[in-house]
Amino acid sequence: MVHWPDTRLCDLLDIEHPIIQAPMAGASTPEMVAVTSNAGGLGSLACAMLTPNRVLDVVAKTRVMSNRALNLNFFCHASPVIDKKRADAAIDRLRPWFETLNAGPIPEMTEIHFPFNAQICDAVLEASPKVVSFHFGLPDSALVTRLKDAGIIILSSATSSAEAKWLVERGTDAVIAQGYEAGGHNGWFLPRNGAEATGTMALVPRVVDAVDCPVIAAGGIADGRGIAAAFALGASGVQIGTAFLATPESAVSDIHKQSLIAATGDDTQYCHGFSGRAARTIVNDFSRAMDGVPDFPDFPLLNAVTGPLRAASAKAGRPDAVSLWAGQGAGLVGQSTTREVFENLVRQAQAILA
Ligand SMILES: Cc1cc2nc3c(=O)[nH]c(=O)nc-3n(C[C@H](O)[C@H](O)[C@H](O)COP(=O)(O)O)c2cc1C
Repeated sequence: MVHWPDTRLCDLLDIEHPIIQAPMAGASTPEMVAVTSNAGGLGSLACAMLTPNRVLDVVAKTRVMSNRALNLNFFCHASPVIDKKRADAAIDRLRPWFETLNAGPIPEMTEIHFPFNAQICDAVLEASPKVVSFHFGLPDSALVTRLKDAGIIILSSATSSAEAKWLVERGTDAVIAQGYEAGGHNGWFLPRNGAEATGTMALVPRVVDAVDCPVIAAGGIADGRGIAAAFALGASGVQIGTAFLATPESAVSDIHKQSLIAATGDDTQYCHGFSGRAARTIVNDFSRAMDGVPDFPDFPLLNAVTGPLRAASAKAGRPDAVSLWAGQGAGLVGQSTTREVFENLVRQAQAILA
């Protein structure tokens, strides 16, 4: 029997180990989620880029492999406004990349995935997961109420103590304190007044002090030492993404997996150039070229345009223009299966916490 120093998250989510496999759009798969949930953690399906019907499909696929607790994750960004001048400037910047990588015609800049809405909510209620988590805030309060009335537990990411309080006041049951080190998109949603994102080490205790609910530490945690540190900071659990990215169950490209295994963790940066928002990636030619560009179209419009470019780069086995999402814990990532990653995390953390 494994003992954790704080069981509030396990009790809330009805799981054995307070470890959430992070939802990772384009990376997490039903296989990864089922293995994690069956091993006693919480598997998360990233649904932000899926239609309501696809959400139901991936949930059904996951449920064939696991009937344990399941998290469905969505984005709550403001709907983008297409500004022709900014769109043209972005496309001009991308044109040489399309030519070099032979990526075909440049697609139109349109909204291809949508923030959480009533249609998606209908699908979620039909799928009836234990947990729904959000990135970039929360949806309309009526939708939060519908989920909560169905007994679904709500998680959301905060990147400051102010965001954590905002989320809890609006019904969030446990807050994911996501630090600067995290791979993928930083989830900020309240104005920052020019301040940079806060690191996990400083953020977690501040969020723990600010809210009266379980806090989940995320960002830069890739082994048992990070988990033990999160508990020392007052967290009740962790959400881990990068450590699962190079597994056979991950859907990212082979070149992405190779880049992760080779990464030191000192070689990541925030890049706005793939989607229009800050997202941590392993440094490559594209992220370097986009560094310092002052203005991008509203998130997530760029995704529609950079999608074929990233795919062409990955297909050619060239990391140059792939969104190599990774957190600063990338240097700790090896070649293991999801089950091995999960079991190692539990074993290492337990050895320290005992
Ligand atoms: C490839 C990738 C994709 C991600 N996509 C999502 C997503 O769709 N939704 C979300 O809430 N968080 C997403 N994240 C952020 C994670 O939820 C989490 O905050 C992060 O992975 C934690 O940091 P770590 O990568 O250092 O473990 C993503 C992270 C990565 C690495």
